[in-house]
Amino acid sequence: MLVLGIETSCDETGIALYDSELGLRGEALYSQIKLHAEYGGVVPELASRDHIRKTLPLIREVMNQAGCKGSDINGVAYTAGPGLAGALLVGGAIGRSLGMAWDVPVIGVHHMEGHLLAPLLEDKKPRFPFIALLVSGGHTQLVTVEGIGSYKVIGESVDDAAGEAFDKVAKMLGLPYPGGPHVAKLAEKGTPGRFTFPRPMTNRPGLDFSFSGLKTYVLNTVMEHTSEGMLNEQTAADIAHAFQEAVVATMVIKCRRALEHTQMQTLVIAGGVSANTRLREELGKMAEQAHGQLYYPELKYCTDNGAMIAFAGCLRLMAGQQDDLGIYARPRWDLESLPPITMSV
Ligand code: KG4
Ligand code: ZN
Repeated sequence: MLVLGIETSCDETGIALYDSELGLRGEALYSQIKLHAEYGGVVPELASRDHIRKTLPLIREVMNQAGCKGSDINGVAYTAGPGLAGALLVGGAIGRSLGMAWDVPVIGVHHMEGHLLAPLLEDKKPRFPFIALLVSGGHTQLVTVEGIGSYKVIGESVDDAAGEAFDKVAKMLGLPYPGGPHVAKLAEKGTPGRFTFPRPMTNRPGLDFSFSGLKTYVLNTVMEHTSEGMLNEQTAADIAHAFQEAVVATMVIKCRRALEHTQMQTLVIAGGVSANTRLREELGKMAEQAHGQLYYPELKYCTDNGAMIAFAGCLRLMAGQQDDLGIYARPRWDLESLPPITMSV
C-alpha cells in the first residue's frame, strides 16, 4: 500500500510517500523557521498561509522523486491534531481533497502517535510493549505502549513541555528560535558544576514533570549575572549547561521509575527533544544499567516530518481504518482516545 503523508501541524510542512512493502519512497520538508524568527516564536496565521503556499508544490516534488502518479497512491494520511487549528486545516483540506480526487481512503493521524511510532521506521526497531518518552515543543509525556493505539499516559508535564522550556531558556540567553539545538550547542562550552539547577518533582513519587520552576530559576540566575544589559558569554554557556543537565537528569529519574513501575525493559524516546545528544547518552546508560534498551528515531525523524505521518497512517489504513468525508482539525486530542489496531509491524 502506497500512502501519501501530510504534516502541517505547526511550522514545518512535511510530505512523504510510504510504501508498506518498500518503505519510504520520497520525502520533503520545508521549515518556516526564517518566517517566524523575528517574532521569537510561531505566529499561527503566518504558519497557515505558508502551509497553503508550500503543501501542493512539495507533494508534486515528492511524487516526482518516487516517480509515481496520483493513480499509484492507495491512501492519504494527514495530521489532524494536536496542533495549530489553521495549520491543521490546511493539511486536512488538501489531504481530504486529494483523497476524493484519487478515490482513495483518507485518515487523520494523531501527531504524537506519529512521533511515537517513528522509531519503528528504523531497521533496529523496538518490540511491544515499551515505555515511550514523548518530548516535543508542545508535549512531555510518558506513555505505556502495548501495541499500536494501545496507549496509556502514565506521566506528563503539569506546565511547560520540555521543548518549550528549551525554547524559553534560549530566549533568555539571547539565542534564536527554536532554541533547543542552540542551547544544546552552547551547553557544550559550559563549565560542569559552576551552577547546579533543581531537578523538579524528582524527590516525590510519581511520573509527572514540571519545568516552569526550573525556567524561573534560570531567569533569576541570568538576571543575577547580567550587568549593564550584558551576560558574559562563558556564564551563558555555564547556565545552558546546568539547565540541560537538570532536564536530562530529571528525565532519567522519571524514565527509570517508569521502567521499574511497569516492569518493562524497553524505552523509546521520540519528538524534537529526543534529538538531544546528552539526553540520548544518559538515557542509554540508564537503560543499560536496568538491563533494558533505548530506541530513538534517526535525527531527521525526531523533529516534525511527513514520514512519521505517512507511516502511522499507512498502519491504520492497512488495518482497515479510515475517516468519513469530514475534514478534521483537533487542536487538542487525547492520545488515549485512539482506537487500537492489532497487527505486527
Ligand atoms: O517534535 P517537534 O519538532 O515539534 C513539536 O511537535 O512540537 O519538537 C520541537 C521542539 C522544539 O521545542 C525544539 O527546541 C526542540 O524540539 N528540540 C531540541 C533539540 N532539537 C529540537 N531540544 C533540545 N535539544 C535538541 N537537540
Ligand atoms: Zn512534533
